Amino acid sequence: MTEFSDALVLFGATGDLAQRMLFPSVFNLFCEGRLPKGFRVVGSGRSDLSREAFQALVTQSIGEPAAGCESNLQAFLQRLHYCAVATDRPEDFDRLATVIRDAGITRPGFYLSTPPSLFGPVTQGLARARLAGPSTRIAMEKPIGHDLASSRALNQTVGAVFDERRVFRVDHYLGKETVQNLLVLRFGNVLFEPLWNATAIEHVQITVAEAVGLEGRVSYYDGVGALRDMVQNHMLQLLALVAMEPPSSYTAPAVRDEKVKVLRSLRPMDAATVAAHSVRGQYTAGAIAGQAVDGYAQELGAGSPTETFVALKAHVDNWRWKGVPFYLRTGKRLPERRSEIVIQFRPVPHSIFAGTSGALEANRLVIRLQPQEGVGLSLMARRPGLDRGGVAMRGVDLDVSLAGGETRRRIAYERLLLDFIEDDATLFVRADEVEAAWTWVDSIHDAWSAAGTPAKSYTAGSWGPAAAAGMIARDEASWND
Ligand code: BG6
Repeated sequence: MTEFSDALVLFGATGDLAQRMLFPSVFNLFCEGRLPKGFRVVGSGRSDLSREAFQALVTQSIGEPAAGCESNLQAFLQRLHYCAVATDRPEDFDRLATVIRDAGITRPGFYLSTPPSLFGPVTQGLARARLAGPSTRIAMEKPIGHDLASSRALNQTVGAVFDERRVFRVDHYLGKETVQNLLVLRFGNVLFEPLWNATAIEHVQITVAEAVGLEGRVSYYDGVGALRDMVQNHMLQLLALVAMEPPSSYTAPAVRDEKVKVLRSLRPMDAATVAAHSVRGQYTAGAIAGQAVDGYAQELGAGSPTETFVALKAHVDNWRWKGVPFYLRTGKRLPERRSEIVIQFRPVPHSIFAGTSGALEANRLVIRLQPQEGVGLSLMARRPGLDRGGVAMRGVDLDVSLAGGETRRRIAYERLLLDFIEDDATLFVRADEVEAAWTWVDSIHDAWSAAGTPAKSYTAGSWGPAAAAGMIARDEASWND
């Protein structure tokens, strides 16, 4: 039987993610009465904080509570505890065990918002202090390793203490509303599924564009780059959801079984294909929304081979997607923040409207993730009027906003935290998915190394190196800019 956690024990509680996302999310869940009765939050970090100082930190991170939530803040703060833990000191885990016991917590959910180098020490520390019993579970933020070998080693280290059923790997893109909506769109409508294959679809595009640069994350980002930071996790999760077969049910095993099949079907790249099927880029100084911005090397204070942009042409080698390219692109310092999935359908097999004014355009489904959530389907329609010399046509958009119902926009972490607390792993990533994704990403990295592929420059505020447009243009297609 599923047992809900009765507490969130957060490692990395003084860190950036906890401050910006996790505390506001837990507080929102608390205000809506969604947390189990008597739920507690135990913060843990290296800093020695008093409970009061921790409460002040959380208050600051919550900021102005949402309308109607103001009166909940004091009650929420009473649910907070803090225990400093240096992961190399077993006695600190013993003190944590005492805090947990004294607070009456019996089924903690441990959440690791720490660098991955601490995943091993934390799980081992928990085990040693007898905190990792069968009614506990653990959530981990990315990155799960930096290649296949390191991700396997991490999964094994954590797996030695928590069996896979109790391990929740977070990919915050799976908490985004439209990403979940993608499944309902595909499997809740009769319209799309018969066309969702190589017969009707010409190509798929996935863009995750960011206008921001390094945002002070220099030490993490440099040496990692866009391929490992964004493609290995978020973009491949999106690709898997677009490409997967219908799962037998909306449950963690069924959904994840289908996703991993897609990831394992990705065609590896090698030194021969990587030149035509990938583009690496790094931004130089430019302007975004009229504001001058520095180049990557200036932000870093040194030259670096790390890519801040990547465009890829991927293939899913299975029956459904035979010959359908999946174009992926992501980058920092692009003109705007925009994430979307484009399904480009094939043209009609034969046009009966020969000699008409206004060309017949193939249908296109655009699933927008951010900044606005929605779905747009381009259709051909007739231009009203007395058309002479052939039917006058025009493209029209069927536009559906997906915001509906909810009065405020949720943080993706609200959904993920609640699912974690309630033991629902459907929107979390299984070890075999992570490893399959790394296998493909490693093939690209290895090919880049073998071919000595440099990151081409692009001006901040542009859509990446010209080669990215060239890559897709060779297939007589274009990015949805
Ligand atoms: C993170 C990456 O996983 O996702 C960041 O490490 C990136 O580099 C971020 O900026 C993007 O997330 P979102 O939700 O802002 O699109």
